[in-house]
Amino acid sequence: MKQWALITGASQGIGYEFTMLFAANGYNLILVARDQKRLEEVADEVSSKYKVTVKVIPKDLSQPAAALDIFNEIKGDGLEVEVLINNAGFGLQGPFTEIELSKHLALIQVNITALVELTHLLARPMVKRGSGRILNVASTAAFQPGPFMAMYYASKAFVYSFSCALARELKGTGVTVTTLNPGITRSQFHSRAHLKRDVGMVMMEADQVARIGYDALMHGKPNITAGFINKLSSSVSKALPTRFTTNIAARLNRQNGG
Ligand SMILES: NC(=O)c1ccc[n+]([C@@H]2O[C@H](COP(=O)([O-])OP(=O)(O)OC[C@H]3O[C@@H](n4cnc5c(N)ncnc54)[C@H](OP(=O)(O)O)[C@@H]3O)[C@@H](O)[C@H]2O)c1
Repeated sequence: MKQWALITGASQGIGYEFTMLFAANGYNLILVARDQKRLEEVADEVSSKYKVTVKVIPKDLSQPAAALDIFNEIKGDGLEVEVLINNAGFGLQGPFTEIELSKHLALIQVNITALVELTHLLARPMVKRGSGRILNVASTAAFQPGPFMAMYYASKAFVYSFSCALARELKGTGVTVTTLNPGITRSQFHSRAHLKRDVGMVMMEADQVARIGYDALMHGKPNITAGFINKLSSSVSKALPTRFTTNIAARLNRQNGG
């Protein structure tokens, strides 16, 4: 019998590439994002290419009830989620005080709260039956504070710390947790955050990043940074004084603001 994978942010970018990978590897899919039309296009594409069943759940994860609604819908259908990919997320660029508070709170809801809720709701049954895999998408932004994108960097630092801790906590239960840290990746992310990224060779493709995450997840690795350059720059960031890396991030984020 085919296993079910739930992927948030499945309509675009890295989440779309995860969707293709899991389908190619024979998983049935539960796809979550806001854009119902786009999700249905993805579902049609996937089910015409691969012999898998796809369920779409259009949902805005910035709404406080979203994660529980998703869980209840899955439960109502009697589906058992073996793989959870918490991928949905977005960034906000600009001075903290000039961005509406409601936008900051929506970012916390999507990047942190919904991720924690889905992890809690789905990890419990996984632990009970002794099997499951969870992948949470953080970022290389997790490794230093990011002025002019302060909330985004902080949200990813949360995802990184929480997910690495949970991976250790669940050791021996049959449930693995993998943190994926992409660096700059070609997707809608930058235009949506009003960022101009002219970074040529440093930019990775979304399918490469998803493949790295998929392999790490399947090997039960607790943490993976995507690509050699990102691994190198993250090690350097971690080794340098915070004041120094914060200044660099401030310059980059202000310079690249749209
Ligand atoms: N691209 C990068 O350079 C980069 C680097 C490091 C980490 N990341 C992380 O990678 C993950 C995927 O980003 P991406 O680059 O693939 O960005 P993307 O192309 O903008 O895709 C984001 C996905 O999340 C969904 N999403 C956004 N807000 C949502 C909401 N309120 N409710 C439900 N779904 C929502 C979007 O679908 P809808 O719009 O239809 O809702 C879309 O499917 C994010 O967590 C991001 O922080 C990206």
